[in-house]
Order: sequence, then structure tokens, then C-alpha cells
Amino acid sequence: MAKDFDTMEDSNRSSNPSIHELSDPARRRLLRGGLGATAGGLLAPLSGVAALAGCATTSGDGDEGGAPLGFKSVPVSTADTVSVPEGYSVQVIAAWGEPVGLSGDNPAFQPDGSNTAAQQEAQMGMHHDGIHYFAQNGSNGGLLVMNHEYTDDGLLHPGGMSPWTAEKVRKAQAAHGVSVIEVEQKNGRWDVVRPSPWARRFTASTPMAVGGPAAGHALLRTAADPQGRRVLGTLNNCASGITPWGTYLTCEENFINYFKGPDQPDAHQARWGLRKGDPSGYRWHEHDARFDATKNPNEPNRFGWVVEIDPFNPSSTPVKRTALGRAAHEGATVAMTRDGRAVVYMGEDARFEYIYKFVSRDRMQPGGASANAGLLDHGTLHVARFDADGRGRWIALSHGQGPLTSANGFADPGEVLIKTRQASDLLGATKMDRPEWIAVDPQGWVYCTLTNNSNRGGKDQPGIDAANPRANNTMGHIIRWKEDGDFDAATFQWNHFVLAGDASNERAEAKGKVKGDALGCPDGLWVDARGLLWIQTDMSTSAMGKGDLARLGNNAMLAADPRSGEIRRFLVGPAGCEITGATGTPDGRTMFINIQHPGESPSERSDPASPRRLSNWPDHNPAGRPRSATVVIRKNDGGVIGS
Ligand code: FEO
Ligand code: CA
Ligand code: CA
Repeated sequence: MAKDFDTMEDSNRSSNPSIHELSDPARRRLLRGGLGATAGGLLAPLSGVAALAGCATTSGDGDEGGAPLGFKSVPVSTADTVSVPEGYSVQVIAAWGEPVGLSGDNPAFQPDGSNTAAQQEAQMGMHHDGIHYFAQNGSNGGLLVMNHEYTDDGLLHPGGMSPWTAEKVRKAQAAHGVSVIEVEQKNGRWDVVRPSPWARRFTASTPMAVGGPAAGHALLRTAADPQGRRVLGTLNNCASGITPWGTYLTCEENFINYFKGPDQPDAHQARWGLRKGDPSGYRWHEHDARFDATKNPNEPNRFGWVVEIDPFNPSSTPVKRTALGRAAHEGATVAMTRDGRAVVYMGEDARFEYIYKFVSRDRMQPGGASANAGLLDHGTLHVARFDADGRGRWIALSHGQGPLTSANGFADPGEVLIKTRQASDLLGATKMDRPEWIAVDPQGWVYCTLTNNSNRGGKDQPGIDAANPRANNTMGHIIRWKEDGDFDAATFQWNHFVLAGDASNERAEAKGKVKGDALGCPDGLWVDARGLLWIQTDMSTSAMGKGDLARLGNNAMLAADPRSGEIRRFLVGPAGCEITGATGTPDGRTMFINIQHPGESPSERSDPASPRRLSNWPDHNPAGRPRSATVVIRKNDGGVIGS
């Protein structure tokens, strides 16, 4: 979600030090060279869950192989189209409102936005974000699973929010969540298979189970769910992850914005950003009391989790995995230790929030999702501290240890997980510049985008530190670390992969240090099977085209060679969009990405009287409206993407 700088969350008023002394500049240098991808064998066609490119399985030091950037850079653009390099083509599939392929229930999209709530429940949701291709027929067919972050009610309904009705609330809730669609390729073109036995929609109303130490906790109980074990729906899903046992992880980000808060939020509510009234203006509480935290104060505690979905079992129930902690979650990237335990890296995208790592207690078992149904319910959550000397450590959020005691407000392990932010404050975690996606390369380097933080160094705000070295950080950066040993290590070394920016800026701190094409506000990250690092940008439409971002055009996707540090612009999206989510077929010859919110208005919502004012992508229908959609990228000669 691109967020307006004026309204985005900034709730961390903890006193834990953010500055662990500025580091030796020599230690902060951008690391050049010394990295490469041991690409060869990774491109071989894979099968089953082994084909889950993107799940790191080793942390060893590979040799200095290469993954060069073989395409010509795409120039900056403000056009209302998707631009790709010469020799590439794009195809649009699965736009908001297309039927997902439920048996006997395939309502056509109405370009005036007049589909009903019931129809929306059978259609692609709005605002596509994280995405993964689960191979079923190798590189020719499988499941695409993606989440839908939020809704623009100015586009979702013919009259926008006027009048505001219970039916519109239901439709907005139905346009959130996750879609599972089956896709197949014929002669280089991809289509959605309809009907498909795998097709599903999960919405803000779908029943979900709760797993892990906080399941059934008193703070999760409500009048509608006195056991605290059955939550309706998932919200504001941003970024995603996959597991090597074949499941999809979807991440609840800015959930707090959906709740009406009391006039004077208590300390817990304030730490999670709950504000008086409904300042984000979703207005769900007007027709659904579940979203009125003055009446249902525990309902917000039931969101902010990573949700695990088994797409291969059409009757499976999603599970909120509380052992992974509660946060404004952005991504859940899984790596495996050499002895088979799952490590999940997670960013929390809010100003001055933290980076987390979960290590499972048990080892993955053969047998897919059913054999590993509890793997993410038992383990230890850690939060990152980046020290000024280029070293860092993972601090365990273990109940009863250090300050995480009843005397400090943590009655039990479940409360530590529900109050992850408060626990991390006490543990002295490092306040970061909005951690977004995380990706792991074949050499075991773990990359995290820190998209921006214009409040860094501001009045009464944390100053710069070694890991977040720029005040008024409008451009963002990518930090990376390598564990000391295996992925479950307690300590690591770190450096900056890139400080994003535009060398033509006058403000020194907005120039960045980029070897290659200028970029701002990195968000999506994906390491492909060859080891190329794909970087997707999310410059806010309220800031786009102005100030430090004046010469960067529309949001873009760039490819980075981790060996040389070179970054090259590969794709530019249509007007007002963000680029988010990336996945590909095992052969590397098809890439799927998501275009979210084309035509997003710099104000909170689109004007229903002029829905095409800023974009009309992808349909360019004179009576239509812009729609989030999946873009399929192929090389015209059928070659490997990026080569
Ligand atoms: Fe929804 Fe942090 O991007
Ligand atoms: Ca973002
Ligand atoms: Ca994002």
C-alpha cells in the first residue's frame, strides 16, 4: 500500500535507543563484489514442492557464479502503460473483478463497478499484492495464489461511498483477502482455467482458525467468539511468503486502520496505532459492529498475524499463526536450516518498527502441508538489533526472560506475541525505516527493503543510526545481513546493499548510492532461481513526481546483480500504480507480477465521478475504470527472464 506521508502510522514512542553509535564509515560501505549466484543447477525443471523457487534452503557460501543482466534498461516513464525491455512482451490476466473460476459461479465484471457483494465473493479482489506460482504441471500450469491488500471505495462502487450502505461494506470486505486461481499456458499465452476445483476466495469474512501460543488467549476472545479460536477474515494483506511444504503465507499489514477507536485509546491501543474515530475512513464500523473497537475492544487483537493457507486442499481452513508474532506484517520469507527447521523472516512496515525472525522448534517432515500443519505453531520469535560495528543480533521474545515478565504486563507467552511491539521496545530492538519485503539469495544473504521514513531525524523523532543512516529518508534503502552460521544463528553481519536515490537530486541525502538506474522507495523483493534480486518500488502517489522523486516517473521494477551491485530498470508500471509481488515458473521463462492501484488518487480515495482521471489501465475502456491486475512477462524468444 502506498501511504500518504501525512496519515501513515508512526506509533513507536518507546525510549529504547535507536542510535547504537554511528558506525565506522568503512564498515558502512556498500558492499561491492564478493557475491554471486551458483545458478546452474537451480534452473533445472523442478517438481512438486521442490519447485518452490524463493524458499532458501541453504546458507552456505557458494562460489562466484554469475547472473548478469542481459536486457537493455527501460527509461523512466509517466505513460499509462507497462513498459518492458526490447524483446519482451506483457499479457494482463486476473484483473480485479474477473471471476476466479468457482464451479457454477462466474459473474462477469461490470466495468461501472456495479457487481454485487455476492458476485465480488466469486471474483478477483481489489489491489493485488503478494503472489506465488505453485507448479502443478511444471512450467505450463499451476495455481496462482495472491492477496488483495485493500479497497478504493471510490472505484469499487458506481457512486463511491455515497450513499454508504451495508451492501457496500459487504462488497468491500469481499474484495479483500486472497484469491486462488488455476492458470495454464498454451503457446506462450497464459489463461485462467474456469471452472477449476482449486479456485477459491478468502475474504474479510471467511472463518479462520488460530494456531500457536496465543490461540484461545483472553485478549483474543470476543462475544462472537468466546473461545478466541475462530476469527472471521483476513485484512490488508500485504506481501506474502511460501513454505517448502507447499503453503502460502499472507500477511496482515495495516489492519488497525479498519477499526473505530475510542476517544482516548489506552496504552496498548495507542502502541498499535488505534486512533479516535475512523480517521482512515473505511466506515465498516457503521454497518458491522465487529470493526467498532469501542464495542469490541479485542477484535483488533485478532488481526496483525501471518495466515497460512494450503492451496492444494480446497477444503482447508486458513490458520493465523500466532507464534510468528503480531505486527503490521509485511512478508514472511522462509529459509530452512540445514537440519530442516523453518526460519521465517518478517518486516513490520510502519515508521520506526522492527524486523523479526521466527525459528521453528521442530523439523519439517515429509508429507506436505498436512504433515507440517503445526510446524509454525512452536518455536521462538526474535527481533533484530543492528549495531554500529556492522554486527547484529537476534533477541528472543521469550516470556519470563529479561523484561518480558508479568510485572511488565506480559502475563504469559501468548501476551508477548499479542504485544510484540511492546516486548520489542523493552528488548532494545532497532527502530527501522519501514521494513517491507525480505528475500534470501543463494549465498544466504538476507535482504530487506526499508521503503522510506520522512520522519527519521525529525523534531522529537529518532535520529539517524548506522542501519538507518539518512534523515528525512524519502528514498529508502535495502539492508542485508548474513547469519553467523546457519539461519537460526543468534548473531549476524550486515551492510547496506543500496541506498536508493537519484543522483540528479540536489539534496545530498536524496542522491543515494546506486550503481545503475535511479530508484526510490523499494518495497517488493524477490530472488529468482538464478539469484537475480528483483526490486519493486512503491513511491506514494502523494509524493510521486515531486521533490526528491520528481524525475523518477511511475513506479518500477528493477533487477540487481548481487555480484556486481548493478541495478537496472526492467519495467515501468502505469500511472499511479505500485509494482508488487513477483513469482515465476520453475524454468524461469514466465514471470508474474502484480500491478496494484493504477490511477491511485493522491487523496484517500478516487473520485467516483471521474474514475478514469488518472489511469484507465489495463482495459482503456471509455466506460471503465482502472483495475489492479497480474502481468505475465515473457521473452519473445522464449528465453529466461532477465538473461
Ligand atoms: Fe502494503 Fe508496506 O506495503
Ligand atoms: Ca509500500
Ligand atoms: Ca508493500
